[in-house]
Amino acid sequence: MNYITTVVDDSTAVADAIAQLIRDKTLSKSRQDLPFNLAVSGGSTPKTLFQVLAQDEYRNTIPWQSVRLFWVDERCVPPTDAESNFGMTYDALLQYAFIPSSSIFRMKGEDVPEDEARRYADQLHKLLPVKDGVPVFDLILLGMGDDGHTASIFPDQMHLLHTGKDVAIATHPVSGQKRITLTGKVINATEQLIFMITGKGKAEIVATIVGQQEGAKKFPASYVHDKTGNTEFYLDKEAAAYLPAISIVS
Ligand code: 6PG
Repeated sequence: MNYITTVVDDSTAVADAIAQLIRDKTLSKSRQDLPFNLAVSGGSTPKTLFQVLAQDEYRNTIPWQSVRLFWVDERCVPPTDAESNFGMTYDALLQYAFIPSSSIFRMKGEDVPEDEARRYADQLHKLLPVKDGVPVFDLILLGMGDDGHTASIFPDQMHLLHTGKDVAIATHPVSGQKRITLTGKVINATEQLIFMITGKGKAEIVATIVGQQEGAKKFPASYVHDKTGNTEFYLDKEAAAYLPAISIVS
């Protein structure tokens, strides 16, 4: 695994750095008349990114018609539920109708989980480039929970990192809430993989993973990477607090 770490002041700076990267990548794809296939996660860290993307700075400079938006995971609730990752993204970004609705591919948390997992996997195979039988995103944006989970792959469900399925059903270990999630098979095939992690509560796990310490093995977040084995971490100073200076790129 090769970890590339970018450290900026705070969560807004993390969001702005990722927003700039999304703009650059989308412009590049747009110039090639190609879509930018982006999969996003839920949670408070991605929400800050969506709020930044909704600002004029990005609203007026990203060729939104080239963005095709997918989800990394979704709670098995209706899109109107407060728990919905799609609902959060709609409130923070999509309500401003930047991205054509025909380019928004949500996981339908209101449907039977197993049926939706199959439907979503089929949709990925139809819409994305497929290499060695695996759908390939241009960019997957991940968050990381306080327990080291990512996507909806929790420490007690590590098999989802290695399953032959592209999309699977997970269960939140505390609430029992069912989740639909991309699996390690799809996540690890992506062109680019970025973790957005902020806050001091995650600093210890970040240092354990980036430092490739023995304890990292119990965290699902330590097993994901892009197709070349790289994993990029965009961190605020709090989340990077325990990293040795040499691993701080900027
Ligand atoms: C989810 C997410 C999950 C999230 C992390 C980080 O559906 O909850 O996909 O993986 O990204 O738990 O969440 P925070 O950014 O809120 O800490």
